[in-house]
Amino acid sequence: MTWQGLLDAYRDYLPFAGDIRIISLNEGNTPLIQADRLSGLIAPGAGLQLYLKYEGLNPTGSFKDRGMTAAITQAVYEGARSVICASTGNTAASAAAYAARAGLRCVVLVPEGKIALGKLAACLAYGAEVIAVEGSFDDALNLVRQIVERQPIALVNSINPWRLEGQKTGAFEICDQLGGRAPEWHCLPVGNAGNITAYWMGYRQYGRGLPRLLGAQAAGAAPIVEGRVVERPETVATAIRIGNPARWQQALQALDESDGIITAVTDAEILDCWRLLASQEGVFVEPASAAGLAALRQQIALGAIDPAGKTAVVVLTGHGLKDPGVAVEQARRPRSLPAEVEALERYLVNRE
Ligand code: F0G
Repeated sequence: MTWQGLLDAYRDYLPFAGDIRIISLNEGNTPLIQADRLSGLIAPGAGLQLYLKYEGLNPTGSFKDRGMTAAITQAVYEGARSVICASTGNTAASAAAYAARAGLRCVVLVPEGKIALGKLAACLAYGAEVIAVEGSFDDALNLVRQIVERQPIALVNSINPWRLEGQKTGAFEICDQLGGRAPEWHCLPVGNAGNITAYWMGYRQYGRGLPRLLGAQAAGAAPIVEGRVVERPETVATAIRIGNPARWQQALQALDESDGIITAVTDAEILDCWRLLASQEGVFVEPASAAGLAALRQQIALGAIDPAGKTAVVVLTGHGLKDPGVAVEQARRPRSLPAEVEALERYLVNRE
């Protein structure tokens, strides 16, 4: 049977009306990649079964498509003509794509100068109206919360419960891909805290066992870890540059119920794991997506997580091509050579 998107695949687990028209780009069904080399690096000899859920392979390059197929499907069903969101970039790109497919007007508010190039390019290509707000993501989210009280426009941030309905299917897929069981540890980056909330909903609903959750915030944007709003969040991982998460309370509840951990990882740790994912396993992600692995490595090193014989899934939330700027900054410069075979041979033999 061909895959027709996650609303079709998991229809029985979703509370949509029977006659609903699904707006889909065949999202979901992303690979769960076993990462033995990384397992050996972060937990040598422990027999840790480490898996990468590569969400960057969704249609617009991030996990947001799971929530957006659901939110846009429901918005169209309810008669919306326009949608709006605040975003660090991925939600915006996803909203723009699904709105285009549904024929809706799409307005996205992003923090000025703090959105990765691949995300901006996608929003513009899909025809969204992009508004650069002079402020943070949190400021932009405040604006959209207010405007939907005044204007007939549907909000598609993860405050919208349909976003979580779609995103919870990630948990279903992981259980299915592991042969009908949940992992012991489920690790992921935390920004606005919609995804951690959605995954917990999904694991609970699916009934294939419950993992312990490991949430990762960037050290310069770690309100949940620090227990206070961060006024000026800062991190290389712009996707999770958020100081006042909308689903803060639900995230705490999920962490509590799962006997989980939430921790902060530095930009250096994030970039180190970002490099390892690409260089050791061939999986290229955007910086925020490496935070879950950084947190797992940190907690194993601290002795807070015992990896022996365990299964851990790390969610890689966005594709590396989302943020070409950071990738190029971090990389070695390409080698320049004359177009002569001798020059190439000299390089190969002597690396000079
Ligand atoms: N990873 C990536 C690549 C993201 O884009 C986001 C959130 C997260 C992790 C964190 O997920 O917010 O559910 O805790 N990006 C949002 C956006 C804020 O606007 O694209 P979360």
